[in-house]
Amino acid sequence: MTNTRIPLAGVIGHPVAHSKSPRLHGHWLKTYGIAGHYVPMDVAPQDLETVLRTLPKAGFVGVNVTVPHKEAVMAIADQITDRATLIGAANTLIFREDGKIHADNTDGYGFMENLHSGAPDWDAKAGPALILGAGGAARAVISALLEAGVPEVFLSNRTRVRAEKLRDDFGKRVQVIDWVQAGNVVENADLVVNTTSLGMVGHSELRVPMDGLKPSTVVTDLVYAPLKTKLLLTAEEAGCTTVDGLGMLLHQAVPGFERWFGERPTVDSATRAAALR
Ligand code: ATR
Repeated sequence: MTNTRIPLAGVIGHPVAHSKSPRLHGHWLKTYGIAGHYVPMDVAPQDLETVLRTLPKAGFVGVNVTVPHKEAVMAIADQITDRATLIGAANTLIFREDGKIHADNTDGYGFMENLHSGAPDWDAKAGPALILGAGGAARAVISALLEAGVPEVFLSNRTRVRAEKLRDDFGKRVQVIDWVQAGNVVENADLVVNTTSLGMVGHSELRVPMDGLKPSTVVTDLVYAPLKTKLLLTAEEAGCTTVDGLGMLLHQAVPGFERWFGERPTVDSATRAAALR
């Protein structure tokens, strides 16, 4: 590939039509006047490796990876960052000029950037965090929080054994709390994060009691449809600072865009509007 070729990137999922990434990257390409393209690609699991090996030859410089391929790409990638290894999944692939596929996970980075911008006064080292859910998103959030210096993580998941596995992988600062007891530790938490799909349009509501919320607690929800979930509305009523989940989606896309297109994009209100269109 010569340097004069227009860089191509995209998102691989199955299905992929729901992805906000093409609108987001399209907005940044236009904003920065970059001659590049970002396209959605619906790829079935059995075709994943063939597609990933073919795309660089067609001028692709990398791709985002979404459900259900985030774990499967780990077995295909030639190089994997430590944070992707710890999480066990990748969302950003860089196709290097030597033909190697480099895999990273930027979800934890996106979570922290969103949290810092929505709750600038939150201090990671000040107190414990309560994390609801123990899926892939929770792994990314917890690894980022532990790296930021959170002293203790209370982790609660419907399927307790999944939370226990996560604790075994992440160490002693993670304490597993029964799902039905999660409400009991709310008053001890400086940060509450919902990483489950509860509260999302078309899903059940999150029913963990939030009576213990104190105004100094920061509450964030990874769900962004609706933008204001019941959890965030309850937290607002309690006087808490709340952070919605859309910003995490926007911020996690920044490192990939910068690597592929050579410009570090800004996440601002225009970016949010573009992703919501
Ligand atoms: P993601 O990668 O987005 O985290 P996931 O790995 O499928 O997706 O995890 C979904 C999370 O939402 C899990 O913590 C799941 O709990 P289980 O491990 O018990 O399945 C949680 N979740 C989904 N539906 C739920 C429900 N109805 N009640 C409680 N937790 C639920």
